[in-house]
Amino acid sequence: MNIAIDGPAGAGKSTIAKLVAEKLGFIYVDTGAMYRSIALYFINNNIDSEDDKAVVDACDKINIQIKYEDGVQQVYLNGENVSVAIRKEEVGNMASKVAAKKPVRDLLLQLQRDIATENDVIMDGRDIGTNVLPNAEVKIYLTASVSERARRRYEQLVEKGENPDITKIEADIEQRDYQDMNRDIAPLKQADDAIYLDTSDMTIQEVVEFICDKAKV
Ligand code: DC
Repeated sequence: MNIAIDGPAGAGKSTIAKLVAEKLGFIYVDTGAMYRSIALYFINNNIDSEDDKAVVDACDKINIQIKYEDGVQQVYLNGENVSVAIRKEEVGNMASKVAAKKPVRDLLLQLQRDIATENDVIMDGRDIGTNVLPNAEVKIYLTASVSERARRRYEQLVEKGENPDITKIEADIEQRDYQDMNRDIAPLKQADDAIYLDTSDMTIQEVVEFICDKAKV
């Protein structure tokens, strides 16, 4: 069985999907981590994401692998585990830029489909219900207001001991929403058969139960 979760940055997709995966005994596949790994390669090698030839050349040199260690997804970029390094804000912002490029999307599509063919998965991203897994049995479009998503992100960073600027977080979220929703290839949008879920006023537990119920039907 395949469950597809799409939605904008900071909507809570990964938190929710991890909990649903635990409850149902599914594998959680975080496709954003794959785009972030490619973004990390671009940052580390000073590659301009707007230089089409450089993007094609870089994609030839990138190998992304997904492994599960104690049930937790680990992403390997050319043999190196980058699961922690990809969590920085600058990597997320670069991921949104590289994800608009066709060679980058082509590189990841088959990998994502293969994992979903071989396993019961809950997969999150931007184009899972519309493009990667169009036949997923359950599709959810998870969102929340910009201010609520910024507030959640702010609290996560404070918990990590950082001193974030909420205005900058909000501006970054708005820019990523715009880039992810307005690109030519596989933009973020709700699939026709996806359930729209605004989590601004829902608890994590309520959202998890809602999705688990849909998976049972
Ligand atoms: O979910 P995230 O913040 O880790 O994703 C980082 C970026 O990767 C996001 O801004 C857009 C891109 N992405 C995508 O284009 N398609 C996906 N299926 C997943 C992520």
